[in-house]
Amino acid sequence: MSTVLVTGGAGFIGSHTSVELLNAGYDIIILDNFVNSKPESLKRIKELTGKDFKFYQADIRDEEAMTKVFAENKIDAVIHFAGLKSVPQSVKEPLNYYDNNIAGTVCLCRVMDKAGCKKLVFSSSAGGTTNPYGTTKYFIEQILQDLCVSDSEWGVSILRYFNPIGAHKSGRIGEDPNGIPGNLMPYITQVAIGKLECLNVCGNDYPTPDGTGVRDYIHVVDLALGHIKALDRLLKVKGCEVYNLGTGKGYSVLDVVKAFEKASGIKINYRIAPRRAGDVACCYADATKAKEVLGWQAQYDIDDMCADSWRWQSQNPNGLE
Ligand code: NAD
Ligand code: WQD
Repeated sequence: MSTVLVTGGAGFIGSHTSVELLNAGYDIIILDNFVNSKPESLKRIKELTGKDFKFYQADIRDEEAMTKVFAENKIDAVIHFAGLKSVPQSVKEPLNYYDNNIAGTVCLCRVMDKAGCKKLVFSSSAGGTTNPYGTTKYFIEQILQDLCVSDSEWGVSILRYFNPIGAHKSGRIGEDPNGIPGNLMPYITQVAIGKLECLNVCGNDYPTPDGTGVRDYIHVVDLALGHIKALDRLLKVKGCEVYNLGTGKGYSVLDVVKAFEKASGIKINYRIAPRRAGDVACCYADATKAKEVLGWQAQYDIDDMCADSWRWQSQNPNGLE
């Protein structure tokens, strides 16, 4: 079986994907610098799968450390999650975002190239770019396309995620944001456990059925399974391919609140607040290509996503501490 290096594997999507990789029989190596995650998540991946793996605490920008990882292991492919992902933080600290995400990816690819490992799955983002975070993803996509043009041995699968929420069914791993959550679902779950008082619904005058923003929420386990499909294909083909991973269905902020109330039995206090800068009214995926080429389709619906987000939050009120 192939060995996969998972950068950012201690994080939200990386930990769920690591579980599914181990369950599918892949050997994995996780690399993370814990800038936005905790070592506890590695313990839980082992607990959930009953399998062990190597871990490197390192920064993807550290060329020496990365070179050592490739020298010490025979790595067939890399799934690259490591990156900073806060939109507002990226507006305040663009240089940190360009350095971490873009310079980090260039360093990773350079080391891979030298080691002769030329298979990469990359975590990209949906839609156009309205902020430095989104711009890093856009630039990295261009860089990866250029890399594949320069050398036909390279194979890259760019996965554009929509809005991942939910958690592993066990409630043992999930999203553990630092500070006050910026994203909708972790904000709702923290209102539900009483950590936060009231959800601000950011705008109810969008041209959508109920006036609130519409997004394509996808269960993180479905997303993880999409990576396995992309990897299986990547190990057979070369060149650069791009896939949308979403459900193709849009839900408004108020739809999500209602679905969460149904799943948890808890009433969510909310108030209508001004629109958030940079938000679009509506964003959902056309995931036809992923279905046709990868044979992947999301299985879980919004009720599953809410029930699993709630199980995770209620069983781990302080996240992975
Ligand atoms: P996350 O913050 O939970 O995971 C990212 C992981 O990368 C963390 O464990 C962090 O410690 C690690 N990391 C960051 N910079 C690093 C560096 N320089 N060296 C080593 N490790 C580093 O985020 P996530 O939600 O799991 O997202 C994973 C990837 O998917 C990110 O690249 C993110 O931009 C992308 N993505 C996420 C979403 C989303 O809504 N969650 C949507 C689209 C794309
Ligand atoms: C969803 C909806 C908000 C919080 C972001 C990034 C994107 C990707 C996923 C990483 C919107 C509304 C939110 C709140 C609210 N991330 N909302 N009150 O903005 O679609 O996407 O996360 O790659 O790049 O931009 O997700 O969860 O922040 O917002 O009303 O307290 O919920 O206005 O309509 P978004 P989100």
